[in-house]
Amino acid sequence: MRISRLLFAVVISGLFATPFAALADDPIVIKFSHVVANDTPKGLAAEFFAKRAAELTKGKVKVEVYGNSTLYKDKEELEALQLGAVQMLAPSLAKFGPLGVKEFEVFDLPYIFDNYADLHKVTQGPIGKSLLKKLEPKGVTGLAFWDNGFKSFSANTPILMPEDLKGKKMRIQSSKVLEAQMRALKAIPQVMAFSEVYQALQTGVVDGTENPISNLFTQKFFEVQKHLALTEHGYLGYAVIVNKKFWDGLPADVRGQLEAAMKDTTEHANKIAKEQNDKDLEGVKKSGKTAIHVPTPEQRRAFKKALIPVHEEMASRIGKDLLQSVYKETGFDPSKL
Ligand code: LMR
Repeated sequence: MRISRLLFAVVISGLFATPFAALADDPIVIKFSHVVANDTPKGLAAEFFAKRAAELTKGKVKVEVYGNSTLYKDKEELEALQLGAVQMLAPSLAKFGPLGVKEFEVFDLPYIFDNYADLHKVTQGPIGKSLLKKLEPKGVTGLAFWDNGFKSFSANTPILMPEDLKGKKMRIQSSKVLEAQMRALKAIPQVMAFSEVYQALQTGVVDGTENPISNLFTQKFFEVQKHLALTEHGYLGYAVIVNKKFWDGLPADVRGQLEAAMKDTTEHANKIAKEQNDKDLEGVKKSGKTAIHVPTPEQRRAFKKALIPVHEEMASRIGKDLLQSVYKETGFDPSKL
């Protein structure tokens, strides 16, 4: 949807909107837009939040979830949030660069988190809190981090070694770190909205992609990708964000109840994310359409060797202090392969 349509929607809704609960029994509506399928870690978490918010506010808040890019695609949803056409989103951390918050791209650095436990030291600790604070000047309030999982490469030809991606057109999310990552593999990065990836893979506009298995499976990318290498070379997760003006304007008790609902949801979301990805890997296996390769220790080392230089290359974009504080929190050492 173009900005003019968005603006029109916002103006019209402004003309007819009544202030919060102007009619005593009208619920406050939160439109929550996202781009993935409903049976993904994010889709399920959004539904869980809707239910928990209704329970804790005793029906004062109604969360309407619009999944699968039915309302907006990647870039548009951020614009829509800032304009107030929707109130809540959970974009991938790789999609905050265009908003001017480059620090979030620290999460895109290859191999920076060995596992969910290391990741949570950052997302659920003081670094995570200070990252969310950086959104405020953009008119956005950050509420939580939700997990998806670790990304793997897919293509129509086998991916055993880094050289296998050389010259391949690889779809990426809108992150400069991911662009540098693909260039480090001598691949050709192509930024593209999530909703367009299936068709782009099918028609050969791009040759391959990277995603957690839950996205690959629920978007049926496995139908159009003959090979999947379980490289788990990077992380993909979400920041749950709201329009700041909307959030600050909520009655304080309602805001508190929604914060409690978000806390419960985050625990739930981060519990189910790995389970969903594991389950969906079984789904890909069962489809019989995609050959799944588990890298050997040498192959894993070769990918690490090719990709770890991206940390240094991107350090000044992300912020050297931030990078060091993440290393310190997780114990990551870029000199170790
Ligand atoms: C992608 O664009 O690949 C992902 O960010 C989609 C998502 O929201 O998980």
